[in-house]
Amino acid sequence: MTAVDEIIARLDARQTCDTGLTLDPWAFDNPQSRNSYGPGASITDSVPRSAPRQGLLPELYRHSTDDELRERISSAKATLGSSLLILGHYYQRDEIIEHADFVGDSFQLAKNATERPDAEHIVFCGVHFMAETADILSTPEQSVTLPNLSAGCSMADMADINQVEDCWEQLLEACGSGAAADGRAPIVPVTYMNSSAALKAFCGRHGGIVCTSSNARAVLEWSFARGQRVLFFPDQHLGRNTAAAMGLDVDRMPVWNPYKPMGGGSPATYRQAQMILWKGFCSVHQRFTVEQIEGARAAFPGVTVIVHPECSMEVVNAADGTGSTAYIVKRIEQAPAGSAIAVGTEINLVNRLAAEHPDKTIFCLDPVVCPCSTMYRIHPAYLAWSLDRLLEGEVVNRITVDGATAEQAKIALERMLRVHP
Ligand code: 13P
Ligand code: SF4
Repeated sequence: MTAVDEIIARLDARQTCDTGLTLDPWAFDNPQSRNSYGPGASITDSVPRSAPRQGLLPELYRHSTDDELRERISSAKATLGSSLLILGHYYQRDEIIEHADFVGDSFQLAKNATERPDAEHIVFCGVHFMAETADILSTPEQSVTLPNLSAGCSMADMADINQVEDCWEQLLEACGSGAAADGRAPIVPVTYMNSSAALKAFCGRHGGIVCTSSNARAVLEWSFARGQRVLFFPDQHLGRNTAAAMGLDVDRMPVWNPYKPMGGGSPATYRQAQMILWKGFCSVHQRFTVEQIEGARAAFPGVTVIVHPECSMEVVNAADGTGSTAYIVKRIEQAPAGSAIAVGTEINLVNRLAAEHPDKTIFCLDPVVCPCSTMYRIHPAYLAWSLDRLLEGEVVNRITVDGATAEQAKIALERMLRVHP
């Protein structure tokens, strides 16, 4: 079989990366199985012991048909009216997206969470760090629910506050803690939105800022105006790709490995660095390869390749465009009819875009279907359950960030919103 035949055959076959994905998510709600994110791309990453776990969903919801769940959700939504706001990330399954009041990327949804202070309850169909951010940015009177508590993010879990505090102390020792002659601090910490509230608070405390994939460049420009170096966590790829596109020297971007003494480098390496990148990654986006891009170009001459900046630098360099999920959606909407576009991002979004644009050939770069294993945890059964409980006056799976953490995290989030409204 030639390479072209092979890619077409695999696209047709639509193999999945894990047979567990044919099961419903409640098959994995076992509090005993603490060390796996469940089926899918991040199955080999281990869940921190402190991560919240979902208890067993009541039988009624586990045994309802798709139509019954749809009906329950619609009816609860109609009764709760304007007291309810449902937010849905682009990577959610279609059966969730159809109920969302706002659908967007993590940046848009963080803003949407501030736009309806009249809504008593925000139900966040996304992952844990997004619900925490919504809690920080919404009013204290509003509750935020994550329908399935196991919907975390393996990348966000790759940096915890103790590791970052240790790293910071060692870096200040290596680089000095005083400002330069031009007033710039030795290091500015920048956290990707995909991080715990504690890391956002760390950035708030230390003159740092939050970024998302929609605004990483503007945030880095802000940071370099205030610091000689940036410590960027947890996603090394977004940090490297953005800084390289700004013209920074890739050789001056050492990676900090929290499991090695001094991050695996020497003090001199960090002193000479422009960016210090945390050794974190997204298991979904790191599946994409240059070989897949070459295969797509061979199978579909003239294809446009667009990828998310959580992909490796080699993949980003081999693609025709890179940007956040909102950017990907926009590029596809703006492409002329008849275009072929290969996309390097989560499969639910790619499949939805393909269905919405039947006049264009849109396909995922990776012919093996592999959704984000934690976004997949939000199934309509959990949404129906959490809305039914709200109807009964009970807020389940409430995500709350303690006052001091929220206050400091908000400083870093508001800096981001000022840099890129
Ligand atoms: P954006 O929503 O910022 O594009 O990020 C993608 C992602 O991985 C969300 O977890
Ligand atoms: Fe986390 Fe990657 Fe899933 Fe986004 S796609 S929630 S970064 S694991």
